[in-house]
Order: sequence, then structure tokens, then C-alpha cells
Amino acid sequence: LKLAVLISGGGSNLKAIIEAAGDPLYPAEVVCVGADTDAAGLAHAAAAGIPHFVIRPSDYDSREEWGMALAAAIQEHGVGTGPNPGLVVSAGLMRILPAGFVREFSPNLINTHPALLPLFPGAHAVRDALAAGATETGVTVHVIDEGVDTGPVLRQSVVEIREGEPEDGLHERIKQQERPLLVDTIRQIATGELDLSQFS
Ligand code: GRF
Repeated sequence: LKLAVLISGGGSNLKAIIEAAGDPLYPAEVVCVGADTDAAGLAHAAAAGIPHFVIRPSDYDSREEWGMALAAAIQEHGVGTGPNPGLVVSAGLMRILPAGFVREFSPNLINTHPALLPLFPGAHAVRDALAAGATETGVTVHVIDEGVDTGPVLRQSVVEIREGEPEDGLHERIKQQERPLLVDTIRQIATGELDLSQFS
């Protein structure tokens, strides 16, 4: 399964996918990495010799045009085209993908979110769970639809919240479960164990 991974930050989830794909038995490979900015995580793509690109929203007149440019760059690398459409993985992309982009790739388009959706959607999920005094939170891998963090849930994993824990500490503990969950969800999609066509 050909993967296009989208990031905005450090890319530890991307790194986990690249490492998993290093096993010849893993049924997916990262064929390109896209970012909306000079994301530090692009270094993981460079180190692995994986084509990568930055498509900056500020270079376009609208979000939709940005989305079209991002879609074109992904399709140039063989994802989203032909009989084997591959899979677009949003792993820490801190942007809402425009409707045109979603329609182009969905349902072969997934996101990972550091909360138990539908709880705590949006860009501050870890902080919001702490602020709400939740005793547990977690991570969700879901199909991206045209809403924000609203698409069909594929997998979830629960992470307990420790009293007085700082946001970054909790987020790192969430990521410790998120990385293997994302890697395994991609494996399930690649093997057909998870059939995304039910969501189209
Ligand atoms: C992940 O926890 C993801 O769910 C959230 O941002 C984080 C990105 O982490 N949207 P990384 O860049 O993969 O380390």
C-alpha cells in the first residue's frame, strides 16, 4: 500500500511508520511526505530517502487552491490515482483539509487525533482533556470526512490521565500508544482487514 504522509511538526508518528515499513513483511511503504511548513519531521523523510515537499498555504489565494496543490503533489507520487489508490495519512498535520481535497481522496484518507473522539475535537485536544478534569483520554484513528475530526472512527486506545500531569507529558504518553496504533491501523487497511470502501 502506497502511503502519502502529511505532517506539520516533529513527525514522530511519521518516523514510526517509516520504521515499520522497513520490515519487508509490513504491507505498506511511505512514497512521499508533505508538509504545510518547514516541519522538523521532514528530516525523517530525508534520512530515509523519501521524496518530500512543503506546500505553504500562504503561497495560495485560498484554502481550496492550497488543497489542490497538495493533492497534485501527492498524486504525482502515485497516491490517489489508478486502481490502487494508496492511502493519505494525516499524522500531525495542523491544518483542516479543504472539502475538495477530502472528496479527492476519501475514504482513502485517515487522521490520527490525540483524544477519544467525539470527545475533545480540534487543535488542543490534550489541553482540553486536562482542562475538563477528565480522568482518561486517548487516541483515535479515523477516516477524514468534510468535518473537523468527525469522520468514521477506525481504532481507539485509552490513556489514563495522571493527577496534575503537564500537557506535554500527557501528550507524549498518548503518542506512546498512538504510534503503534497508527502503524497497526495502516497494516489492517493494507491487508483489507479494515475495508475503507464501506465509508465511501
Ligand atoms: C500527534 O499526537 C497527532 O495526533 C496530533 O499531533 C501530534 C503530532 O505528533 N495531531 P508528531 O509530529 O507525529 O510527533
